[in-house]
Amino acid sequence: MKVLAIVASGRKDGNVSRLCKSIIEGASKAGHETELINLHDYNIGYCTGCLSCTKTQKCAIKDDFEILLTKEMQADFIVYGTPIYSHDIAGILKSYIDRHSCLKLPYVEVDKSVNPPGMIKQVMNYLKEFNGREPFKGKRCGIVAACSDRSTRNKQIRQVQFVMKNFIENEMRAKITNTIICANTLFENNNEKIDKLMKMAYDIGNMIK
Ligand SMILES: Cc1cc2nc3c(=O)[nH]c(=O)nc-3n(C[C@H](O)[C@H](O)[C@H](O)COP(=O)(O)O)c2cc1C
Repeated sequence: MKVLAIVASGRKDGNVSRLCKSIIEGASKAGHETELINLHDYNIGYCTGCLSCTKTQKCAIKDDFEILLTKEMQADFIVYGTPIYSHDIAGILKSYIDRHSCLKLPYVEVDKSVNPPGMIKQVMNYLKEFNGREPFKGKRCGIVAACSDRSTRNKQIRQVQFVMKNFIENEMRAKITNTIICANTLFENNNEKIDKLMKMAYDIGNMIK
């Protein structure tokens, strides 16, 4: 099996990177083909909402998105790792997720009689047609998130889980099987807790079947 970790933290030795690496190490030890990539090493532009993908089924922006999408398509298990910034996933991950719209928009019909053009029909057709499309069918995913807030149960974590579940399960039709939340990363001596989470992360990778 192929296990891919996508890290959205610029701190390559930070909590998210270390936890994702640990999952990858466990998976590698279990004999899986593994790869860890960091979004900061790639050129990923913002979705401009041009909707040209509704005609071409491809994103019009020429950057590294296709490279990463190909890696995702080839993977059986994908880990998305993000720091919590401003009570949400990191902006770079949000931009990356937005770009996956080209996988679901090809069925959209633009209704030119409404203003702005197409907005109503777009949404209706999206809801109707996307149910039949499953771009990540059969894939399983893990989420790793880190925040400085002390609690592992609060609004910002629920927000991250909401955004990631919507992307992974509702839109891409994959399944989230594991979630690691690393809280209180800045304020207290974190080492013991991190060690426990690192072991949990390794085991998650190691138990992928
Ligand atoms: C720009 C920025 C915004 C942040 N916003 C939040 C926040 O809203 N809530 C929170 O609990 N921590 C916040 N943090 C703290 C990070 O989530 C925390 O340091 C986390 O460990 C970063 O992940 P990393 O260690 O993998 O880099 C923020 C940090 C930065 C740099």
